[in-house]
Order: sequence, then structure tokens, then C-alpha cells
Amino acid sequence: MITHTYDAVIVGAGGAGLRAAIELAGHKVAVITKLYPTRSHTGTAQGGIAAPLGNMEEDHWEWYMFDTVKGGDYLVDQDAAEVMCRESVEIVYELEHWGLPFDRTPDGKIAQRRFGGHTHHFGQGPVMRACHSADRTGHMILQTLYQQCIKHDVTFFNEFQVLDLLVEDGACAGVVAYHIDSGELHTFHAKAVLLAVGGFGRIYKVTSNAHALTGEGVAAAWRRGLPLMDMEFFQFHPTGIYKLGILLSEAARGEGAVFLNDRGERFMERYSPTLKDLAPRDICSRCIYQEIREGRGIGGKDYVYLDFRHLGPEVLEKKLPDITEFVRVYQGLDPAREPVPIQPTAHYAMGGVPTTVDAEVIADERNTPVRGLYAAGECACVSVHGANRLGTNSLMDILVFGRRAGRHMAQTIAAAGRVPALVGHNPDSEVRERIERLLARTAGEPAAAVRADLQTMMMEKVGVFRTAGGLEEAAAELRALRERYARVKIDDHGRRFNTDLLEALELGALLDLAEATIASCLHRTESRGGHFREDYPARDDANWLKHALIYRREDGRHEFRHKPVVITRFQPQERTY
Ligand code: FUM
Repeated sequence: MITHTYDAVIVGAGGAGLRAAIELAGHKVAVITKLYPTRSHTGTAQGGIAAPLGNMEEDHWEWYMFDTVKGGDYLVDQDAAEVMCRESVEIVYELEHWGLPFDRTPDGKIAQRRFGGHTHHFGQGPVMRACHSADRTGHMILQTLYQQCIKHDVTFFNEFQVLDLLVEDGACAGVVAYHIDSGELHTFHAKAVLLAVGGFGRIYKVTSNAHALTGEGVAAAWRRGLPLMDMEFFQFHPTGIYKLGILLSEAARGEGAVFLNDRGERFMERYSPTLKDLAPRDICSRCIYQEIREGRGIGGKDYVYLDFRHLGPEVLEKKLPDITEFVRVYQGLDPAREPVPIQPTAHYAMGGVPTTVDAEVIADERNTPVRGLYAAGECACVSVHGANRLGTNSLMDILVFGRRAGRHMAQTIAAAGRVPALVGHNPDSEVRERIERLLARTAGEPAAAVRADLQTMMMEKVGVFRTAGGLEEAAAELRALRERYARVKIDDHGRRFNTDLLEALELGALLDLAEATIASCLHRTESRGGHFREDYPARDDANWLKHALIYRREDGRHEFRHKPVVITRFQPQERTY
């Protein structure tokens, strides 16, 4: 058994994990990451990070907070949104001072652009709030944070997959990780553990999420008896490359690109007279499918166009270079001359591991913290995004709550005595048995076949539109997929870089998170934000203005509990744009 002892262990090297690590400089900190740090998914964020700097137009944090709350269909916890919106300006200037190459205005200030759902004067019209570095903003943030971590001598364990959390009696003592290079299990003990593992979009077939986004850290928390919150809210970004799901940034529409249907109509003008193509993502994605359902998809098919042609080649090359290249490479089209086929793509989990505003993981609806365990970023649910996240808000979320996690962890480390004792005699025994069971099987089907069927089922039955019938079918299909998973066979029995084994382990997490998502979708009998029930098409504040926590009990049953939404400044209103 290989063991390590640290003050703090951070799982994940995206923006939340790296930002927390910087805050913990001076302590003995390990960052454990499945990938090489600069390959983390934060690097794929494109269009910008929100902050009301007011560099291009008047702006205020209260307007930003209002947009975040309304964008989230009033399921946002307003104490958390206020923290994020107030701290956003300082966060952006901190990045600037660390050398992040933001685009500039002619007089040298940080340039800003429009993004969906961001408005001035509490919804009067779009505002330029997204600070950007072309359409590579996430890449620049990741590189900047990594440089700071190197400067502060943060220790990285690259290509380690965390498979279990050592949680017992309401406290966390560390994690168990599989070293992909050697095939060995490592146990890390720590006074404080941060989950910053990102999302799990790979439960869907068409997704903007990279292959690594399979949610083991989130599944590990659920398997250890902790709740997941608001799992029914999964965001579909309106502009994925048709069939592939690769993201074409909302910055395109921020710069003036528009949707067109088969008749060449700018159809968003009908649905959203004020914000038009810059309405929030849940609304745009539903409108695209509405056009398709009513026969106005291109050529009667299941896609519409994103039209960049009027922007001109200079805007494309200077402001949107990466997505221009994606369209050329993956679709063989020149967006300066041809409209681009797009479809909504599974993009972001609003739900996840519930936390306080200091990123402490909570065990129940009374906000009881799990000692020593933290979560931040997409894997967490704090909840600043409520039922639908605004574009640019994930980058702000990871930095604000990554920093707050680091600060609170420093206090926990200072207050703790020794590193907590081992949980049980063999902390890695559960993971070891899981791996041995998979390797021992001599007959069965490959994990890839089960995964493909899971992803197709989720796309068809748990997508933008949902019904009780479709969700019941999804739940039954999921049970059948689990039976197939129990017979999955590994062909590679080597120890080093055994991706066959790794994919089978990942599939276990995908099945768990799909199960939590389907059950949560069935539970919430209303429509709100990214969760649209065709059989319950209205928002129902009387019964559902509350968070839903799902637990999986030892006998496999689900238990739901509810937590009130924190409402401070903005009372729920009708959500028109
Ligand atoms: O469209 C985009 O550039 C994505 C941004 C986001 O998800 O916040």
C-alpha cells in the first residue's frame, strides 16, 4: 500500500483546483489530476469571464447579480450569487496582475463583449460584461493559474484517477487514487480535501465535454452516502457543431452572429423580443428544438444555422479564431461565407455536490458540513447557477469559490491537530476489489458498447424536453445497462496505461450519475431553467421553489430531501426576455 500525507489534497487541476492551490501556498499541498494540469477542461472555455468592470458600458454588480438570479430561473441561492458578483471585479484584476493577456480597448482597458442573459438596468437590454482573450479565455486562465502554482512550488500528481473518498462519521480523511502510469493504488491522507473535478457531460452522446469528463469524484461522494443536489438541471448549450457537439462559443452571438431556420428567419426575434439571439441558453436550446419540431430545421432535419457571414473575416480572425478553425476543420466550411449547422450540445451540470459559500460540502438540508471535505467548480452546487447557468459564469464560479475553498481549508488545517487517522485498516480495499472484479472476468462485452447505449438513451430521453413516460423508460433502460455493466470484460490485463480498465471504471461513475439525473428529473414535477417537463410545462413556485437533494441508500433506494432557496434581494418574477 502506497500512502502519502499532506495538509491538503486537491482533486482536479482545472481553474477551481489551481486557484485553491495558490491560496494554500505555504502549506503541504498535493494536487491530484487525471490529466496533465494544462489539459484540464477549463482550458476549453472560450468566450469570456463575466465581471461588471464597466469598461465599455455602464455596469454594476447588482445588475450582474439580478441577471444571474433571473438566468437561473430563481433557483439561485442569492447569498452565493451576491458573493460571486461582488468578488468578480477583484478576481479579474487579480488575473490581469498575474499576466493574463486579456484583449484590450483602444485606451488599454480590458475589453468586454456581450453574452447571453447579461443585461443593463435589470433586464433592459444586453450589456458588454464578458472579459475575453479572443475565444481562448479559459486556456489563458488555466495557463496563468498554472504559472502561479509553479511559482509557489505546488506538488502535482499527474495522471492519477481518484476513485474513492475516505469519508466516515461525517469527516473526510483523504482519497484513494489509481496511478494510470503504473497501475498502482495510492492513498492520500489529509486534513482537508477539495473536490474540483469538473463535470460529467459524458453521460450524453452529443456533448461539448472532453472524454475525461466522467465524474468519478462526484460519484465517489454519492457512493459514500453524501447527497447530490439539483441533478435534474443539465444545461444544453445551443451552439454545438452538428452531430459532434464541439462548442462554438456564445461569443459568436455576442459579436453579432444569429440563428437562422430553414426559411432564413432570425427566429429568436419571435421568442425573445428584447435579447433575441442573446437570450439565456435554456431558452435558445428549446427554441431551436421548437423550430425543428415545427418543420423549420434546415432541409427538415434536426439542426439550424448559426450565421456569421455578416461579421466579416476580420472579426472572425481576430475575435473568434479558434471556433473559425473548428468550423473549417470539422465541418469543412468557411464561416465567413457559409452558414454553420449547429445543434444544442450537453454542456454543463448545474447540480452536483452541495456546498456552503465557503465550499464546505454539506451532508444534509440543514447545511451540516462534512468535516475536512470541500467542493468547488462544476462538480459542486453552491448554488450560483440555480436551474440554468449564464455563459461566462462558470469561469467566475471556479475562481471565486476555488479561492474561498483555499482560504477556508487553510483555517481547517490550522485548527486540525494531526492528519486524521486511516479509515479502517485497508483504506483502498473497496477500490482494489472493484478493480480485481473487473480484471477477473473472462467473458462479457466491452465497456464502450454499454457506454454508447447509455449516452444515446440519455440524449433521447433525458435531453432538452422530458416527459414522465420517457424518464420511466430511461430508468428501466438504466437498470438493464447496470446488468450489462456487471458483465463488462477487460481485454487489457497490463498495468501501465490500462485505458481499457480506466474506461470501465469511468463507466461505473457515468451510470451512477445518469441514475441520479434521471431520478431527479422524475422527482421535479415542474419546468424551470434547463429542466423542461412537457407534462408539467409551467414553473411551480408554490411547490418547487426549493433544492432537491438525492441520496442513494445502502439498499439502492433513492431518498429525496429539500432545502429552501436563499432569497435576499430579488423575488421570483415571470422570466421573459
Ligand atoms: O459559449 C461559450 O464560450 C461558453 C462559455 C461558458 O460556458 O460559460
